[in-house]
Amino acid sequence: MSSSETAAQWTTNVELLRERALEAARRAYRPYSGLGVGAAATATSEPVTSESVTSASAAPADPDTPAGDGPGGIRVVTGCNVENASYGLTLCAECSLVSDLFRTGGGRLLELVVVAHTGEPLAPCGRCRQLLHEHGGPALVVHGARGPVRLGELLPDAFGPGDLA
Ligand code: THU
Repeated sequence: MSSSETAAQWTTNVELLRERALEAARRAYRPYSGLGVGAAATATSEPVTSESVTSASAAPADPDTPAGDGPGGIRVVTGCNVENASYGLTLCAECSLVSDLFRTGGGRLLELVVVAHTGEPLAPCGRCRQLLHEHGGPALVVHGARGPVRLGELLPDAFGPGDLA
């Protein structure tokens, strides 16, 4: 995040995203680890483009704008973790969130919050950083324990769709 972007610029959505993430975390299927994880993100219907993948200039999202308002309409997507008796098959909350992104029309993730069922902020795991990169690019704002950071900082020099061109 550039120094001209202050944390305050991003605070409008964060409480709403935290609430929605916590709601999701409380619905997690977590019989094995006991840890419920919820993720909530604002999303725009505009897909990730080469521009949004390479730039760090995503506009602050406005979750009060109803979905379906045409290009630029912002909506909130959520997900929770779903564990499995075959532990490695567990779905992370971010994975469910990406599914919700497509279930509700696709597009691009703008700002993300991940919390435990206790409300504690969590960082997306390494695999999920890669998953999020595909659908938010490096400009995706991740509101974590130390404030908002760009996904590009959490996953620098990422492999992405452009590498397959
Ligand atoms: N988990 C997530 O949902 N997201 C992450 O980014 C990290 C881990 C879940 C998976 C598993 O159900 C539990 O947390 C413990 O690893």
